Amino acid sequence: MLDRLLALGPLYLCGLALGCIIAYFPLRKAYIDYRIWRVGGVRSPLIATNPLWGLPFFFSAGSKQMNNKLLDHFEGLFKNTPPSCPNCVEISTFGVVRFLMTQEPAHVKTILTTKFADFGKGPRFHESWSPFLGDSIFTTDGQAWADSRALIRPMFVKDRVSDLDIFDRWTDALIGLIPGGGQTVDVMDLFYRMTLDVTTDFLLGESVNSLGNPKHEFVDAFKEVQRIQMLLTILSPFRSLIPKGRYKSGIRTIERFISPFITRTLSLPPPAKSPSSPTSPSSPTESPSPSSHSTTFLHSLSLQTSSPKVIRDQLIAILLAGRDTTAATLSWTLYELAHYPQTYSRLRNSILTLLGPDRKPTYSDLKSLPYLTHTLNETLRLYPAVPYNLRAATCDTTLPSTVEGQPPIAVLKGDVVVYSAMAMQRRADLYPPVSETFADPAVFSPDRWEHWTPKAWNYIPFNGGPRICVGQNFAMTEMAFTLVRLVQKYERIEYRGDWHAQYHKAEIVGAPGHGVPVAFFEAAEDGDAA
Ligand code: HEM
Repeated sequence: MLDRLLALGPLYLCGLALGCIIAYFPLRKAYIDYRIWRVGGVRSPLIATNPLWGLPFFFSAGSKQMNNKLLDHFEGLFKNTPPSCPNCVEISTFGVVRFLMTQEPAHVKTILTTKFADFGKGPRFHESWSPFLGDSIFTTDGQAWADSRALIRPMFVKDRVSDLDIFDRWTDALIGLIPGGGQTVDVMDLFYRMTLDVTTDFLLGESVNSLGNPKHEFVDAFKEVQRIQMLLTILSPFRSLIPKGRYKSGIRTIERFISPFITRTLSLPPPAKSPSSPTSPSSPTESPSPSSHSTTFLHSLSLQTSSPKVIRDQLIAILLAGRDTTAATLSWTLYELAHYPQTYSRLRNSILTLLGPDRKPTYSDLKSLPYLTHTLNETLRLYPAVPYNLRAATCDTTLPSTVEGQPPIAVLKGDVVVYSAMAMQRRADLYPPVSETFADPAVFSPDRWEHWTPKAWNYIPFNGGPRICVGQNFAMTEMAFTLVRLVQKYERIEYRGDWHAQYHKAEIVGAPGHGVPVAFFEAAEDGDAA
């Protein structure tokens, strides 16, 4: 058979190969159409089902990401969609994996809760992310994910989070580094260092003191690995072509940083394991036992495993979760507050009325400062720390149509649904009309929250459903405490960057691309300010 084929000559063979390739895509499309029909759904509007249209799409996504314009790219996908399905589109390059891009709250609700079992991180995500995050809570599904969640969750019970000593210690250290006399400081850099110190102190029982020692090779490596990881995700079909030297060496640096904590975990004396141990693999995922304040995450890990690899994976994941998200949110908050001095004053007045200029807030003080909560909520509305996310279908299923009379959208096993909290939360049509009490949704306005509450799935900075952020209360408490202490001390802040040059840099977590250069002024200093 092979002999006969070879005898046909190279030209004939090339023609045959080309014919097969040309026939493959329509045949594949027809097969997918058949499966979609069997599921009882339809396709969302098609952007591409073959390399001719698909390749330019992926290259444009990659180039937009490198130029920090990913949001423009994502929003652009829905510019020419028909009224029957305005907020979801389909892209597939080689016809094998379909990517559904959505900015529809009903779709997000479906994948995160209503049909939770039909969606997961999936094997492709695991394969792409595991060199960095291993088999941790972020990369696994099913029992492996449930075990990680059971391990992590007891660290965040209210009793532990409401002890504000750690936040106090590191906020004081941060304020100690802010120069007086109207000098400029990149407060984003300070926030990133502070949240690393808080997270390591809270979870590992000892801080790495990066506020005291800014030159930490771990910090640069963590940033670089995230940058490349994001690119690997966006250019998913071509990720094997992306050079990974810096990615791998960054991961090695992170592992060197983690190594002493692994050693310490392994050397912890074996604790008396009780059946009600918070980290017992058999304990129910969502009913943690109380965890004593002296029990760190390392203790919990030592109870569950003696595998250095398991400890490594969990530590890196929790550092990623705990550090960058809160630092980026605090950075955007200060950036916006510098933009709106009246909002800053209003926030300050509300804080001074309750606490005066010096008293440290308690946990319940933080919860009784509504304008402070509105300010953080508003930041997370415009800049959700995790701007893009995805889930893969574990079986053939559907997403609901939001247009009356339209059939549901079919999602087939292995399809990837990409959703953007940021694009969705910036959709003007999901908000009430602009009025005296409701500013343009594109504008930072904590005041809007006094008269308005978003519909449940229109606002998802912490996700929702069973995989909702474990650290939500911890994050809100840490950010609120830090803001209170800053705002108590400084009467006003002044932005020292170029407003027009600022941009959203999305590398897993979305942060201000130019940092946040500001000057802080205490009340007494204000005379010198001009
Ligand atoms: C502003 C701060 C934060 C935001 C906006 C945020 C947002 C999110 C989001 C959107 C997810 C879902 C990720 C996914 O399913 O793909 C998530 C998950 C998670 N977050 Fe946060 N997070 C924040 C802070 C924190 C902190 C401080 C911690 C812990 C120290 C934390 C721990 C986690 C963990 C462990 C998960 C995984 C949950 C799971 O898959 O079951 N987060 N977070």
